[in-house]
Amino acid sequence: MLERFSATLDAGLLERFDGLLDRHGYENRSEAVRDLIRKALVAEEWQSGKAPVMGVITLVYDHHQRNLLNRMTQIQHDCQASIISTTHVHMDHHNCLEIVIVKGKPSEVRALADRLTTLKGVKSGNLSAATTGRRLT
Ligand code: NI
Repeated sequence: MLERFSATLDAGLLERFDGLLDRHGYENRSEAVRDLIRKALVAEEWQSGKAPVMGVITLVYDHHQRNLLNRMTQIQHDCQASIISTTHVHMDHHNCLEIVIVKGKPSEVRALADRLTTLKGVKSGNLSAATTGRRLT
């Protein structure tokens, strides 16, 4: 069921908001407001730390780095969060890209991401904070 509400805001702020809508390709303000609300709710899920969240860890590393592959495997087997899937791409002779999709409490997902991204030999590591989507319509 859809409900309508109105909001009052400063004209300058609204103008900037409309500019943002244009640049990102939103068709109307409602869709943009819905996305902002969902983004805030996902951020809150990550802060509250109770419900399970989804995380996507992206790693770029040199597979020739001594012990790196062993340590990465060990960490993934030992972690408290559940690893749903990993995808590995051999980008060139040295560089690998790995994507690890994880489900768990925010603290568990963050801990795994921290352990992996700080390993010696990891050139680029990033955690993308996603959601199970269950509480977002
Ligand atoms: Ni590789």
